Amino acid sequence: MDRYGDSGVTERLGADEAGVSRAAELLAAGACVAFPTETVYGLGADARSGEAVARIYAAKGRPSFNPLIVHVADTAAARRLVVWSDRAERLAQAFWPGPLTLVLPLAEGHGIASLVTAGLPTLGVRVPAAPVAQRLLRAFGGPVAAPSANPSGRISPTRAAHVLDGLDGRIAAVLDGGPCDVGVESTIVGEDAGGAPVLLRPGGVASEAIEASLATPLTRQAPGPTPTAPGQLTSHYAPREAVRLNATEARGDEVLLGFGPVAGDLSLSPAGDPVEAAARLFDCLHDLDARGRPIAVAPIPDTGLGAALNDRLRRAAAPREG
Ligand code: TXA
Ligand code: MG
Repeated sequence: MDRYGDSGVTERLGADEAGVSRAAELLAAGACVAFPTETVYGLGADARSGEAVARIYAAKGRPSFNPLIVHVADTAAARRLVVWSDRAERLAQAFWPGPLTLVLPLAEGHGIASLVTAGLPTLGVRVPAAPVAQRLLRAFGGPVAAPSANPSGRISPTRAAHVLDGLDGRIAAVLDGGPCDVGVESTIVGEDAGGAPVLLRPGGVASEAIEASLATPLTRQAPGPTPTAPGQLTSHYAPREAVRLNATEARGDEVLLGFGPVAGDLSLSPAGDPVEAAARLFDCLHDLDARGRPIAVAPIPDTGLGAALNDRLRRAAAPREG
């Protein structure tokens, strides 16, 4: 098994039948394989194998207190892993397959390696919509733990080339399904001690849409010093150079990332469309990161996917924790 991930060679797999079945075979052998979802590329491993999951943490250099999201092909598979509820059913019917993760109590006999949940009694589970992810999950036939396929704390990958930038030689393979449609990670919904729904991370499904579906407001969980979720680390998604937000013009050597009326050196969305901006966010950050200059970012309205964009940008701009 040491040959996977330790050999220094990362296989490039096309998203055809041969590529998907090779990726499934590698997962079954306990290797880490990066694959496209509609949000970002995930770094997948068999969620039932602690050893396989450990390779994810090793490849990413990820702090071990961060629990991982488990991906399954359909709601029926999710229901075998977690304690289902009426609220879960409603959200699954509305948003699965798609960019929503539900955090629910682990079910009896779930079989998930404890390293996946970092010892928590709950599990984050989602059914991705991207056809390549669906084909891989069905070919593999089991739950796949997958954080975003980037070194810990760095920008999430929305293309196979981004994955290779950060992890080439550290993972067994990357399945290339082209660019991701949504471009920011899934929205995560859990529940508080009293059973009320909590937004743990804004993401690809607008929180307003979730609130409309539940006919209940979501409580926001404020980022704290002891995160239960890695997206809650204050400095995360960080480019190498400093990031300054709500900028309408560049100062000094800065390169300006525009939005709407602020044109910038490049723009998240010239039309000011937060959906387009989300899809382009990590592409733009990779591009800016490569320029080696400080980054200024135009203001983005905090509604709909704008909330997820601003959340990622605040983390990119936060003082670095090292
Ligand atoms: O879109 C996505 O969600 C991507 C793609 C690959 O599916 N995955 C992703 O995973 O963003 P990751 O590991 O980078 O982020 C997982 C988030 C973290 O903030 C983690 O702490 C939270 O999910 N999470 C997972 N299980 C949890 C749990 N039991 N309780 C609270 N938060 C949990
Ligand atoms: Mg991540």
